[in-house]
Amino acid sequence: MTRPLPTSFSVKSFGCQMNVYDGQRMAEMLEAQGMVAAAPGGLAADADLVVLNTCHIRERAAEKVYSDIGRLTREDGTRPMIAVAGCVAQAEGAEIPRRARTVDIVVGPQAYHRLPAMIADVAAGRPALDTDMPRLDKFSALPARRRVSPSAFLTVQEGCDKFCTYCVVPYTRGAEISRSWRALLDEARALVDAGAVEITLLGQNVNAWSGEDDGGRMRGLDGLIRAIDRVPGVRRIRYMTSHPQDMTDGLIAAHGDVETLMPFLHLPVQSGSDRVLKAMNRKHDVASYLRILDRVRAARPDIALSSDFIVGFPSETESEFEDTLRLVQTAGYASAFSFKFSARPGTPAAAMAGHVPEDVMNVRLQHLQAGITRGQLAFNQRSVGIATTIMIERDGRRPGQRIGKTPWMQSVHVDTDAAMGEMIDVEIVSAGPNSLGGVVRRSAAQAA
Ligand code: SAH
Ligand code: SF4
Ligand code: F3S
Repeated sequence: MTRPLPTSFSVKSFGCQMNVYDGQRMAEMLEAQGMVAAAPGGLAADADLVVLNTCHIRERAAEKVYSDIGRLTREDGTRPMIAVAGCVAQAEGAEIPRRARTVDIVVGPQAYHRLPAMIADVAAGRPALDTDMPRLDKFSALPARRRVSPSAFLTVQEGCDKFCTYCVVPYTRGAEISRSWRALLDEARALVDAGAVEITLLGQNVNAWSGEDDGGRMRGLDGLIRAIDRVPGVRRIRYMTSHPQDMTDGLIAAHGDVETLMPFLHLPVQSGSDRVLKAMNRKHDVASYLRILDRVRAARPDIALSSDFIVGFPSETESEFEDTLRLVQTAGYASAFSFKFSARPGTPAAAMAGHVPEDVMNVRLQHLQAGITRGQLAFNQRSVGIATTIMIERDGRRPGQRIGKTPWMQSVHVDTDAAMGEMIDVEIVSAGPNSLGGVVRRSAAQAA
């Protein structure tokens, strides 16, 4: 059955920032094909084409896509062309249209540059499934960046060779690949031209990035950061997510002397128990992790640290869980994410003995989150009274209010009409666990 080519589209991304980045690149590509975006960000069932850019990291994330697919069929029985992209597409492939018959396209995270051709296939009545991991990199096939928000993402590295025993990423994103120095500096410049003032470098293991610079010298992420620091117009640089094993001396040193590199480091530890870390195949123990934090703090004393945690890894005991609670205290995180272990098909941990019952995991998660929230509040309270610069990122809830980010990634609510992307000086006047309140500081020029 042939179908008309779509003229409008909607892309909805789940999961990590890299998926958000991929979703933006897909949208730019579809726009370059002449399609128009319907209701950006939302699930616009009235679009001719809906792309669900999915995440496979935990069971609940992966199942969400099927309920979304169901909701796309309209009351009159019609539906948009439906594409499932992202990590569920890579992991489940042909199983998806078998389970959800209304899905027209399945496209993996390394193949989405082929989406326009796949749309044409569906219009011509041919099925479209592509979960290849082609050697030719998709980025060179995508249109240049044109319009971005003040805080923009830039994928520098993809894939993961670490094989933590619980994790699907090495299977859904493939082996570690670094994009080239030249491509990244070109894209950083294009992002600034398109309106970015802050660039967040993304990778599943972003600090494993390596490549040759223009002079043919091998560089690590610190070298790339130093080069992006010199791109005119770049005011702030961030990167995520890092693996402790790849925190090199050079990268730690960069935190001390690259002014645009923001004092924030997301360095997941996952557990505070050495036995559990070993079972997770994390390649670091608690002591070596804490030594890294000490070195980073020596280079940049005000750095804000954050982490990810998994509770209820198979066979985790109560006392091992308490080790995790203790680590949260010791490390002094500014923020952290915590998750219940989710057994993912095909991962070694899913087959391990001693799965922790759901109700036990729930209690542990609550305890951990309470500890993390206490730490966040304490960190935020220490900011009260300081003067700092925030970058305006979005509107606040009240009229006349905007929300900006401090160098330490805290959200600050402030009454101002400053434009998106503007850097303004504020004084922090109040703190909660998740955000700060600030007032605009009148500069000497304004006061005169
Ligand atoms: N590459 C990054 C992020 C991986 S996914 C890193 O190595 O840190 C983000 C987080 O999801 C992980 O840090 C981990 O805490 C969590 N996660 C991954 N697999 C999980 C699983 N099977 N169950 C529960 N949480 C998981
Ligand atoms: Fe997953 Fe571990 Fe790789 Fe992070 S380092 S993406 S948690 S396998
Ligand atoms: Fe999810 Fe894939 Fe990112 S599994 S967390 S979207 S790499």
